[in-house]
Amino acid sequence: MKIAGSVALVTGANRGLGQAYARELVNRDAAKVFGAARHPDQVTEPGVIPIALDITDPHRVAAVAAECADASLLVNNAGVMNASTFIDAPSLAAARAEMETNYFGTLSMCRAFAPVLGANGGGAIVNMLSVTSFYTNPFNASYGASKAAAWSLTNGVRLELHHQGTLVVAVHAGFIDTDMAALVDAPKVSPEAVATMAFDAVEAGQIEVLADERTRTVKASLSRDHELIYPPVQEFWDAAVQGSL
Ligand SMILES: NC(=O)c1ccc[n+]([C@@H]2O[C@H](COP(=O)([O-])OP(=O)(O)OC[C@H]3O[C@@H](n4cnc5c(N)ncnc54)[C@H](OP(=O)(O)O)[C@@H]3O)[C@@H](O)[C@H]2O)c1
Repeated sequence: MKIAGSVALVTGANRGLGQAYARELVNRDAAKVFGAARHPDQVTEPGVIPIALDITDPHRVAAVAAECADASLLVNNAGVMNASTFIDAPSLAAARAEMETNYFGTLSMCRAFAPVLGANGGGAIVNMLSVTSFYTNPFNASYGASKAAAWSLTNGVRLELHHQGTLVVAVHAGFIDTDMAALVDAPKVSPEAVATMAFDAVEAGQIEVLADERTRTVKASLSRDHELIYPPVQEFWDAAVQGSL
């Protein structure tokens, strides 16, 4: 689909990657860009229309879908990462919050906007996923589980909406230079580069973006994950547990 002239909505548009997505849509001459955020006063990007939305609030999700009845592009960017392990986390609270936002929130948005996109010619959905959709990293284990679930839903929504011509794009990335990865000392891709790749894919009709070398390597290694992906992760985790990192 062409982004110029389209009407788009980006979740989590107040900062980080969501702000970069919104800016790139404005730069590509989208007719209207709704910037959805829990605190819409924080949506300051020029040309972006703030709209109040917590994606875990089903009433608000339904209301926003009605308010944005002309939308043809939905960017499910909002997400949380609580750096929580499976076993040693004090409770299930962090895992539940990640699943509630990254999986159920994204699913809720897809369900609410599917008829809107269908009525507007099909359009596109961009789901912001992660390299941790493909494998478990103990440092953010329950986050990875929520992104794996969101990857699964992305593939399923693509199948279910094929009949109405909706393009469903999965964007996977390793570390992106935003608040979420602020404490990480490792190579990071810029949010602007991710936004460019995602919307190039939308315009080219591509269903998947692997935004950096690490993500491409991990995806290519999936059929031999227990040989190629997990041994170095195990080594790093064991060193962390033994306090030698
Ligand atoms: N940074 C990375 O290394 C990385 C790598 C791969 C994938 N991702 C994914 O990229 C997306 C954007 O993350 P980011 O890097 O820009 O992180 P970020 O700087 O922490 O921003 C997260 C955004 O999501 C919003 N959000 C969280 N929960 C929400 C909810 N319930 N309803 C509405 N908005 C909500 C936040 O709003 P508030 O300001 O109100 O908290 C914020 O705008 C996420 O899906 C993340 O999982 C990030």
